[in-house]
Amino acid sequence: MTLENIKLDIDFVRSQFPAFKDPLSKDWSFFENAGGSYVPKNVIDKLTEFMTSTKVQPYAEYPMSKIAGENMDKATHLFAKMINAKSNEILIGGSTSINLYVLSNALKHIINPGDEVIVTNQDHEANISPWRRLKEYGANIIEWKFNSDDHELKISDLKKLINSKTKILAVTHCSNIVGSVNNLKEISDLAHKNNIIVIGDGVSYAPHGFPNVKELDVDFYTFSLYKTYGPHLALLYGKEEVLRNLPNQNHEFLKGQYPYTINPGGPNHEELVSLIGIYEYFDNLYNHHFKDKDKDTIEKIKKINNLIASHEEYLANPILDYLYSRDDLFLIGKNRISNKNRAPTISFYSNIKSSKEISHTLNQHNIATRNDNFYAWRCLNALGVDTTDGVIRISMTHYNTIDEVNHLIKILDTKI
Ligand SMILES: Cc1ncc(COP(=O)(O)O)c(C=O)c1O
Repeated sequence: MTLENIKLDIDFVRSQFPAFKDPLSKDWSFFENAGGSYVPKNVIDKLTEFMTSTKVQPYAEYPMSKIAGENMDKATHLFAKMINAKSNEILIGGSTSINLYVLSNALKHIINPGDEVIVTNQDHEANISPWRRLKEYGANIIEWKFNSDDHELKISDLKKLINSKTKILAVTHCSNIVGSVNNLKEISDLAHKNNIIVIGDGVSYAPHGFPNVKELDVDFYTFSLYKTYGPHLALLYGKEEVLRNLPNQNHEFLKGQYPYTINPGGPNHEELVSLIGIYEYFDNLYNHHFKDKDKDTIEKIKKINNLIASHEEYLANPILDYLYSRDDLFLIGKNRISNKNRAPTISFYSNIKSSKEISHTLNQHNIATRNDNFYAWRCLNALGVDTTDGVIRISMTHYNTIDEVNHLIKILDTKI
């Protein structure tokens, strides 16, 4: 299925990322994007600009400080627009793991002994451990297990787990191993009918299209900005009416000043400002491909998302087809992407060779990837995969090319 008639101009895309010209990285096919993506030059420029002329404590009256503060606000404002949130509904923290850890501390007050918290075994541990810890406050932890045949989380199974005691549901929008996109909107609707707070992990989803958090209707949503073409930071969205009532996790005198109430220490200033570069990159991408310049940000993001999804589908399906055709390699998750039902994050393992051996061979042929459990060790355990050797993960984004895909398939076919 073609999601968008206009094709992504891959040469334009790659011209925006200095890594493709850098002597160290230029000859490598980079397939480890789910671990962290390259950054466009706009991000590097914003970071350099901040460090050169405004690297002072922000929000004072003198110009360097005033501009530093204005740019921090601008970055927050632009990012909020990109995901259809309000500026006071997002915070930028050090990582998704830390953001969720702080959030779980803030939410523990809603737990009474005997209440239930649902976590999955498909998620990265960052969206499991903080919620499992609520056991210390009397919560019973209920696991929503993925189906062993197709590795999918079934909403019919979730329905059986929900009851009047369920308070929190933590679920991934897209697993960093299985790759399937879970229907977060349907999950949220079901949860809200039962007064359950939903925390969606969008870390493996957002690099393939920024979410519209209002459409998803989640209470909280998080993703790591270092995987969406930015520096090592992470964004946490919280619905204002929920965020407003969370107990303060920051300095006492900041009580009531959400979202800072759940952002102790605040953001890294220079990296926050560099996020303007991600907005600019996406804006450039839009302007390069589409004529109608008057669209608002969310409309532009929607069109770019379709453009990217179409390209990623074109790249991923040949790899999925190839892996699926091999009797000795086990592909995890769906063997076809269509209509954004899967991310191009493709995990597999062999019944003959170790994942480490396979990864090593791929590295020897300039294919950057690795074997690991990628902190989704409950998922790997449930799949019966050794969590030390792990799986090999081929993860792409919109800047990967069909030549890289063909090279990968050739090496898999001749050397693995
Ligand atoms: C799906 C998923 N969730 C959460 C995380 C944790 O993100 P962070 O490294 O920002 O803590 C990761 C990191 O790989 C991930 O892939």
